[in-house]
Amino acid sequence: MAAQRLAALHAAAPSAFSSTSSASHGRPAARSSTTALLPVALPRAAATLRAAPSRLLPQEAKAAGSGRSVRCMASASAAVASGAAELKAAREDIRELLKTTHCHPILVRLGWHDSGTYDKNIKEWPQRGGANGSLRFDVELKHGANAGLVNALKLVQPIKDKYPNISYADLFQLASATAIEEAGGPKIPMTYGRIDVTGPEQCPPEGKLPDAGPSAPADHLRKVFYRMGLDDKEIVVLSGAHTLGRSRPERSGWGKPETKYTKNGPGAPGGQSWTAEWLKFDNSYFKEIKEKRDQDLLVLPTDAALFEDPTFKVYAEKYAEDQEAFFKDYAGAHAKLSNLGAKFNPPELYQPDAPPTTGAADLQTAAHTPQGPGHE
Ligand code: HEM
Repeated sequence: MAAQRLAALHAAAPSAFSSTSSASHGRPAARSSTTALLPVALPRAAATLRAAPSRLLPQEAKAAGSGRSVRCMASASAAVASGAAELKAAREDIRELLKTTHCHPILVRLGWHDSGTYDKNIKEWPQRGGANGSLRFDVELKHGANAGLVNALKLVQPIKDKYPNISYADLFQLASATAIEEAGGPKIPMTYGRIDVTGPEQCPPEGKLPDAGPSAPADHLRKVFYRMGLDDKEIVVLSGAHTLGRSRPERSGWGKPETKYTKNGPGAPGGQSWTAEWLKFDNSYFKEIKEKRDQDLLVLPTDAALFEDPTFKVYAEKYAEDQEAFFKDYAGAHAKLSNLGAKFNPPELYQPDAPPTTGAADLQTAAHTPQGPGHE
């Protein structure tokens, strides 16, 4: 059974395709020098991973002078699901990448921005958006909300090259969950087996992700997250991911160019963090947003709304007080977020850490009913 599944996975070979991209989100300054914005120079670990043949990323192809017509070499593999053994090996490589580059925050943002386009009102896959690997395509990377995420794609692409049977959709979510865990956060009850969209025409339209500074932040958050099938508690708890990372004015337009917490890195210096220890996953985001004690720490209008809206506030206060409650709720909400809109194949989902059931020890599967909306 397991061997058959592996054989089927190996049979699904990736292929290249061409795409024409002239889309622009009107952010030329923020997008013009992606290489300079890499969190760090490509690390030793990534260099090692490049032992497998590497593909040109869309942006690299453009930089090489191919003009408007971009030869997009991101894998167009269809129906590629991921085996448990490969997922475990890839997770080790992600851990190594995190150790050498401290790229935890941007990997979390990568997973969230792939899944957060989901629309529960659209039944068809992939039109409904969500965790389907569409964020690897240039057209979606160019959406204003995704400014800077090309750097995250560059970091994980060598791992994709090394494990071609792992879908981009799974890899993005694996990278994000691993980053949370390695930063000291809770263990996320993840499942894998997501399949990828095959071409840029399957990318969601721009405008699905939340704005940081809308005129009515709480209403806006509800509008966007309810569309994903998420509720008030999940809005608040997931916002707690901002305990990690920084905002950079040259990307999102938000945040200071640098602060006392960011001027020396780690990783590429600069930006404004929400917390002092912005590579540590804990509940300090909620404490800082509540107290607003330090001008060097960021509070976006949508962050502030969590203590202004009466319903959000109940959860935000609780998480500021009780890290255990935050971790428990975060783990469940993150797993749900990672599954939004995803199409799983095979329907028994791979859980790399599940106790061995039947079949080969290296390929554990579990008959599992995924939680949350948007599954197939
Ligand atoms: C609630 C609505 C949200 C808004 C308006 C929002 C907005 C933003 C903005 C403006 C940035 C700065 C990007 C940059 O300049 O590089 C950012 C970064 C980030 N966001 Fe959010 N976000 C939201 C929700 C989330 C969620 C749900 C997650 C994850 C579960 C998340 C994870 C992150 C992380 C980890 C970073 C730091 C990235 C880095 O340091 O490179 N955000 N977000």
